Amino acid sequence: MASGANMAIEQTAKTIGAAGTPDGVVEVMDGVHWIGALDPDLRSFDVILKTANGTSYNSYAVRGSEGVAVIDTVKQEFNDVFFERLEQVADYSEITALVLNHLEPDHTGAVPELLRRAPQAHIYVSHRGIKVLRALLKDDFEKYQCTMTDTGDKVSLGDRTLSFLCTPYVHWPDTQCTYLEESELLFTCDLLGCHFCDDRLFNDRVGDFRFAFEYYFDHIMRPFRRFVVEALDLIEPLEITMIAPSHGPILRSHPRQYLQHYRQLVKPKLQSEIDGEEKTLLIFYVSAYGATAQMAKAIYEGASSIPNVRASVYDLQGSEITPFVDLIEEADGLVFGTPTINGDAVKLVWDLLSGLIDIEMRGKLGAAFGSYGWTGEAVRMVEDRMRGLKMRVPEQGVRIKLHPTDEELQTCRDFGESLSRHLTGAGVAKEIDFSALG
Ligand SMILES: Cc1cc2nc3c(=O)[nH]c(=O)nc-3n(C[C@H](O)[C@H](O)[C@H](O)COP(=O)(O)O)c2cc1C
Ligand SMILES: [Fe+2]
Ligand SMILES: [Fe+2]
Repeated sequence: MASGANMAIEQTAKTIGAAGTPDGVVEVMDGVHWIGALDPDLRSFDVILKTANGTSYNSYAVRGSEGVAVIDTVKQEFNDVFFERLEQVADYSEITALVLNHLEPDHTGAVPELLRRAPQAHIYVSHRGIKVLRALLKDDFEKYQCTMTDTGDKVSLGDRTLSFLCTPYVHWPDTQCTYLEESELLFTCDLLGCHFCDDRLFNDRVGDFRFAFEYYFDHIMRPFRRFVVEALDLIEPLEITMIAPSHGPILRSHPRQYLQHYRQLVKPKLQSEIDGEEKTLLIFYVSAYGATAQMAKAIYEGASSIPNVRASVYDLQGSEITPFVDLIEEADGLVFGTPTINGDAVKLVWDLLSGLIDIEMRGKLGAAFGSYGWTGEAVRMVEDRMRGLKMRVPEQGVRIKLHPTDEELQTCRDFGESLSRHLTGAGVAKEIDFSALG
């Protein structure tokens, strides 16, 4: 990714001090300064990500003939360095706009203090961001002027114009992008960012960050894949000279390549294998003594007997979790089989279920089944978890005491058929027998 430098930009990117030092401010392009913070020692972000190279919190100051806009801030522990940098490029009294592209704490740590120092700054935030901003500023919220943005809204800085793009869920519901029209510079916050700390700042100067770029996409953007597609649809028609995200390298060399890379990353990996009409149903099970395995086989037989459903069955003891997550991302339905062991579902099942936070599960069909000895809680627990993932669970799961009889195996086949019918749209909702619950 780090490719040949764009010489025209290279000449305007004057470094005032080194970015890695407390006084380092970097001119990104004429009148636009990086005033962010480097966090090279961070090794874990938001609990869920590893950060082998640390990260950066990129904040920018944009100077126009009639004011200065600050775009995003930094994580609170870096406030001092942020204010030192900001003071090098602007007086607080000059700040007319504070643009908040995303209100997660890694970008808003300095916001309350910045507003105390520049109370005249007008805040620009998305419709969904306003609630988060209110929670952040508490009673002080009322003291400041705030405008909710929508796609196409503009703010003038005199000779420069900022325009907003409503791009929700490119990480949180509140996210937006901001475009500096005259400079064709797009501020994307988390989108197109990555956790990669390198004080050379620009993509054509830093080390090889391809791994970090894809890893960030996989863990931050992948659960919101369809929103990333919507954001790309809005961004791609723009003329783009540079992309300035709020983590990792600034993309000034071949910025469009990174949009193309995202287009590749959002594409389903496996869908070409499946006929467009076909629905996919994945059955995962664990079994200590073979009873739940017998049930899985019968459910698979029943599910496979329905046209246009491709059912597959997997023993969780035989694989790592990761390849299954890719399969599940593109599946229409999931069925989990687990015996009840010590009043719980088996850990392998929980491991897979907890691995699903990186993908979108909302609306997929879910079901559970399992053998048990006396209490049999596991099936209901798994169903609850599936509902928690916003899956639809139209059928109450099948629980069978110890090994299934021929009649019970037929119940499993019927269950599989019924799940397949739900996928093809021919499902019949069954009345739940409440006496059987518990
Ligand atoms: C260590 C252990 C703990 C168990 N704990 C429970 C339990 O808490 N509740 C229950 O209903 N059955 C319990 N069982 C019984 C199993 O759920 C039952 O044997 C079941 O048929 C096993 O299914 P499988 O052949 O698919 O492994 C336990 C079995 C074992 C071996
Ligand atoms: Fe975020
Ligand atoms: Fe972030």
